[in-house]
Formats: sequence, structure tokens, C-alpha cells
Amino acid sequence: MSSCRVCNSKILPFMSFGRMPIANGFLPPGSIDLEEYFFELAPAFCDVCGMFQIVEQPNPEIMFHDHYAFHSSTSQFMIKHFKAFSDFVISDYFSGKNSPFVVELGSNDGIMLSNFKQAGIDHLGIEPSENVADIARAKGINTISKFFDEALADNIVTQYGKADAVLSANVMCHIPNIHSVAKGVRRLLKSDGVLIFEDPYLGDVIDKVSYDQIYDEHVFLFSATSVRRAFGDHGLELIDVFPQATHGGSMRYVLAPVRSRQVSKRVSFQIDKEMAQGLHLPKTYQKFRKDCETSRSNLLKTIEDLLAQGKRIVGYGATSKSTTITNYCGIGPQHIEYISDTTPIKKGTYSPGMHIPIRAHESFSENLPEYALLFAWNHAQEIMEKELSFKENGGKWIIYVPRVEVIV
Ligand code: TYD
Ligand code: ZN
Repeated sequence: MSSCRVCNSKILPFMSFGRMPIANGFLPPGSIDLEEYFFELAPAFCDVCGMFQIVEQPNPEIMFHDHYAFHSSTSQFMIKHFKAFSDFVISDYFSGKNSPFVVELGSNDGIMLSNFKQAGIDHLGIEPSENVADIARAKGINTISKFFDEALADNIVTQYGKADAVLSANVMCHIPNIHSVAKGVRRLLKSDGVLIFEDPYLGDVIDKVSYDQIYDEHVFLFSATSVRRAFGDHGLELIDVFPQATHGGSMRYVLAPVRSRQVSKRVSFQIDKEMAQGLHLPKTYQKFRKDCETSRSNLLKTIEDLLAQGKRIVGYGATSKSTTITNYCGIGPQHIEYISDTTPIKKGTYSPGMHIPIRAHESFSENLPEYALLFAWNHAQEIMEKELSFKENGGKWIIYVPRVEVIV
């Protein structure tokens, strides 16, 4: 038995994905013979507060360090997305404000804050991984390399003053101590300030069986119901929600100090929708477990049938998500020749756990395979538009969300 990170009730995992390595722990050459860190990836749903969470999580220092390989600005679509996110904040929450101040938690390489910098708005990024923080600093983005908590919030207030907006994208769901973050944000925000964050959405994961969103970094998968409850405990009220297409289905949550702003009708609409989907019911997660097992056997069968026909398969996009897929399904170098990825520091490494080689995109374009397993399925449109010559040469995509399918 474990305890819910939000309300301390007893929780039990409803399934296990088995032994998992660090999702973004791509192994440098020479280190694949060393002992790798594994933990048991098992999700649970708290039926008291509605929070979906993984039970065991590796120590944050093992996951986010000075050579953390995640760079946000690798996708053109994401660059556009963060421009639109910034425009939304400026037009809907900063209008009429005198020199607003924005803080972003997990600002990565500055993909969001560069828009605020360009608009001449005071900003501060918090990014614990030094290597990506340095990339942001090189672009002139004011960045602190620390984990956010109440003490850091107080330091920021002393040094820079209170914030008009605290933002985060694909970061809040990484932080196990949600109480410390909520308290810190509450202290950091002005009385008319807003907390706006977005993360992969539980409703989409259940609906699309996109179980690869479940990995070490994602300690929580949020819903409007669970966010309202978790932040409500700290005087932050959920005032609006906006579904997003990013990461295969995300939700943007807007919170404000309680009773400081009107609550949009979209909040109760979304919570009703979650009830109708059965997100509060244990049987939903039993079905999800079966759906994951079906997806796994269909994907393995598809790959093994193609290999039996002598086809060449490579992976496309060495995503963190792919670590859950490859390790849960048992997909290794015997199935997939290599995984193509455009991130320079992933080149020449090996995938966590299964040790599939990662190669630069030139390996793909210079010797097109017959099949490509699209691990970066959340960028499907951008990638398929860009890889027309693969298709013209008879190449076919294998996808597994929302179902296992070969796209012809
Ligand atoms: P991302 O979508 O952030 O997924 P995750 O959060 O699961 O890591 O990662 C996308 C990965 O795919 C990243 O390593 C870069 C790579 N990529 C390509 O190789 N080519 C592309 O065209 C795109 C869009 C991404
Ligand atoms: Zn709970």
C-alpha cells in the first residue's frame, strides 16, 4: 500500500508496466555494459481526490541533471504553439497591466519565454537542468537553475517582486511535491495574478490508450477534477480550462487566488465530461489495463509479421515516451535497426533499457527503410508532411495511437 501524494489516502496500482529504466536516460556509447537503473512503473488512481499518479518514482536528481537530453525547440509546431500560448497570456491576462512580470517553471531552452523577451516583458525562467538553462541564457533569457519550492518563491519575491503570471508547460506533472509548488506559486502570485499550466490530459490518455505518456517524469496525469482539488487546498481556484492538441492531447488549466476572478462555464462542463467518461470509476482503469495489453500484443504482432516478411523497420523519434513502449512491449534491436532523432546529443546513444541505437536523421534520409515506427506520434502531422520522399519511395508508417495501424 502507498499513499496518494495529494490527499494521503491509501492507493493501489491497478496495473504494472514492469521494470522500467529512466525514460530520457539515453545511454552514451561505452556505458551500455554498466548497470542501468530500473524501477517498477505502476500507475494508481486515487478514488478519494481523483489524482492519477505513478506509485514509485526515481529520485529527481537521477532524471533531471546537467546533461538532461530534452530540448523543447526541436519541433516547429511546438515553437508555434508556445508563441500562441504567450500571445494568449499577454492578451487575456496582461492587458492594462503596468510592466507585468512573468515566471515560468521548467523554462527549458526558453521556447516560451523568448516570446515574452521579444515583447519586452519582464520574465524569469526556472530550469533545474543546467545544460538547457545555458541555452536559454545564451538567448538572453533570465534563468535560474534550481528546483522550484516555497523557499525559492520567497527569494524571487524578494529579488524581483510578485508575479502577474506563473506559467508552465509539461512540467507541473513532473513535480511530486505538488503541495510545495502550489504553496510557492500562491506566495509568488500577486492578488490578481494567474497560474496557467498545461500537461498531457488524463482523459486523452484513457481514450486513446496513449499509455506511453506514463513514464518516470510524469508522476501525475491531471484532469480538471484532480487539478481543482489539489490546488484548491492551497487557495488557488480553477477558473478556466482549454483543451490543447499538443502531446497527443493536453489540457491548459488557469488558476487564480480564490474568489479573485470569475469561474468560466468551461470548468463545470469539463468536470461533467470527465464524470461521463468515467474517470472517477475503478472499472475505467481495469478497461485501460486490458486496452494496454491489447495494444502491446497488436504492436508486437505487427512488427514480427513484417520481420518474418524480411522487411526493414526503424524507429522515428527517440522520445521519452518510447521508453515505456519498447520496455513494456519488449521491442529491441532485434526488431528495430535504430531510432532516428534530430536532437544532437541523442545521436550515437542507446535507448534506455532495450539498447536500440539512436542515429542522426541523415541515417534515415540516406537509406530509407521500408517501415518506420513513429515513436514521436504526437508530431505525426509535422513529420509525415516533412517525410514525403519516404512515402514516395514506398515507405509506410507504423503507429500505435489511438490503435496499432500501418498507414499506407
Ligand atoms: P517529444 O515530442 O518532446 O516527446 P517526449 O516528451 O516523449 O520526449 O520528443 C520528440 C522527439 O522526436 C525529440 O527527441 C526530437 C524528435 N523529433 C525528430 O527526430 N524529428 C522531428 O521531426 C520531430 C518533430 C521530433
Ligand atoms: Zn488522493
